Amino acid sequence: MSPSVVVLAAGIGERMKSSLPKVLFPIAGVQALRLVVRTLQKLNPSNITLVVSPSMKESVESIVKDEKRGANIDVAYQKTLKGTGGSLLSAKKNWTKSREPILVLNGDMPLVTSETLRSFIDFHNENNSEATMVTISPPDPKGYGRVVRGHSGDVTEIIEDVEATPRVRDITEVNTGCYIFDSKTLNAFLPKIKRSKGGELYLTDIVSEIVRGRKKMKTFFATNAEEFQGMNSRREHSVLCRIMQRRINNYWMENGVSLLSPETTWIDSDVKIGVDVIISSNVHLVGKTSIGNRVVIEPNSIIRKSNIEALCLIKAGSYIEESLIKENAQIGPFARIRPNSRIGKGAKVGNFVELKKTILGDGSKANHLSYLGDATIGKDSNIGAGVITCNYDGGLRYEGKAKSVVGDHAFVGSDVQLIAPIKISDHAYVASGSTITANVPPYTLAIARAKQENKINFIKKLRKRKQRTYEK
Ligand code: UD1
Ligand code: CA
Repeated sequence: MSPSVVVLAAGIGERMKSSLPKVLFPIAGVQALRLVVRTLQKLNPSNITLVVSPSMKESVESIVKDEKRGANIDVAYQKTLKGTGGSLLSAKKNWTKSREPILVLNGDMPLVTSETLRSFIDFHNENNSEATMVTISPPDPKGYGRVVRGHSGDVTEIIEDVEATPRVRDITEVNTGCYIFDSKTLNAFLPKIKRSKGGELYLTDIVSEIVRGRKKMKTFFATNAEEFQGMNSRREHSVLCRIMQRRINNYWMENGVSLLSPETTWIDSDVKIGVDVIISSNVHLVGKTSIGNRVVIEPNSIIRKSNIEALCLIKAGSYIEESLIKENAQIGPFARIRPNSRIGKGAKVGNFVELKKTILGDGSKANHLSYLGDATIGKDSNIGAGVITCNYDGGLRYEGKAKSVVGDHAFVGSDVQLIAPIKISDHAYVASGSTITANVPPYTLAIARAKQENKINFIKKLRKRKQRTYEK
């Protein structure tokens, strides 16, 4: 039986001290709530309802749009009622007529896996329970609701940490915020829960109501407590990020990727990596990024939303954003590739070179200390040390940035300024130290610098003159 699911995600997450609702905090580059939805989709549920606060409308709509593959996703807004019980009541119309069991889970436990949820659902069905909840024994139960059991060993109630006596606080088994209810049971007992001292409706209070109503309430003990760790503070968020990092890194190490320092390597969920890739220490692969086969990435490089094709070498300290690096290219050390750049096959970008919105053709090189912005450079061309495309005139003549074009097999000598808009044609040469303001035709040598004059023996004369002055 495929359950219908309700995710409680409307809390503001006060302990985060943030303007961002806590379920939207990213973990490995993906919002926590989005991770939960992706996990749930793997269960093939009959439908998913996300309960959020009205302030989250825009963000939740984009989640619904992107993660729709599979079950339909509905949104319910929690407006007046407070607490997790209030949250579930806000989605009443989505579950009240459900014929399937209803899986309810807190939106702030993004590490839960579909395998564990599947075993939980199977356990509920096999036991013919009317309600089942997942419990764990975490290393530190502080903050969690404690699971209180009677003489028979059956659960009798959940007592929230804030309301627990020291004796109850000693209980190490806690509630995870993950439950399955038969819809009849939920319909009958959820309305019975009363407001807490703080004016909230605690969903957890349904447990004692169900027990008092003599319905079958079971617990499912999850041995991997890590999966159910909640995210209530920034410290807990960092712990979850670290666990996710370990999971992702282990996955890639099992799939043909060498991580030389996995504890300092951060790979986002949406990254794809080929085989025989070597990734050194302190590398960050961010957002939708892909790394081809046999790529080597040296320490301290950051690659954001970019595609790096096979056999590329990314040398230490490079920063690549929203760009394409084609096969066999070499970048860095200390190169900066800004958005919308494309580095051709076998091309080289060396140290302290910055590219922005620039195409560097196959086999071309810009090896030292350059700024190339809004430029298109052809194949097998050489950009000398210190070349600068002057693409910005402060907005005097051009809206935005002016373009520089360099053809194929062209040679731009060192310390050249190309005053854009400008075109250096195929096979043209630009002499070092030139400031180029006019287009250069094919097979042409352009020199634009003051002519050198050699004053023979001038220094000797100068020194003699000085000596005479002293002698006077
Ligand atoms: C909750 C449980 C606690 C359990 C713990 C597990 C209750 C009363 N307590 O405590 O027993 O051990 O989770 O992590 O349920 N939410 C709403 N609307 C609200 C308040 C919260 O939708 O008005 C959502 C939050 O966004 C969150 C989830 O419900 O995703 C849990 O709320 P939270 O405040 O984190 O509850 P805990 O104090 O952690
Ligand atoms: Ca929580």
